[in-house]
Amino acid sequence: MAIRKIRELGDEILTGKCKEVTRMTLRTKILIHDMLDTMYEAMGVGLAASQVGILKRIVVIDVGDGPIVLVNPEIIESSGEQTGEEGCLSVPGKAGTVTRPNYVKVRAQDEDMKEFEIEGEGLLARAFCHEIDHLDGKMYVDLVEGGLHDVNSGEDE
Ligand code: NI
Repeated sequence: MAIRKIRELGDEILTGKCKEVTRMTLRTKILIHDMLDTMYEAMGVGLAASQVGILKRIVVIDVGDGPIVLVNPEIIESSGEQTGEEGCLSVPGKAGTVTRPNYVKVRAQDEDMKEFEIEGEGLLARAFCHEIDHLDGKMYVDLVEGGLHDVNSGEDE
């Protein structure tokens, strides 16, 4: 297990299109575990492989209910709307207001390439949208309403 370097806004790999994972290899399993370690170390709720410089369709998420690993995820259903604060480990110290669906259903494969579906509401739905956007080279900063602002770390919300 290792902590990988998180690429930041301006790094062109973040705008690259991630490729489908066609088979699970030891190397890819190690990547997934490193992504989880890197996300937890940075205290994020989600991380896409492109954020650690690997253009593969892999996302890890933990909104507080345990780790979720999504290989080749696709949004197959969404409804409702939520408007709220969003941030990204690739844009440290910043946040902005983004409108997303309030409910999202995702079809993906797990670490053993077994297909499953998972639903999320609220923050989890937001994380699914944000992370899957990364796989298509899209950053939340392009969706922000009213500009980015600084996040004061160390201050209670
Ligand atoms: Ni992000």
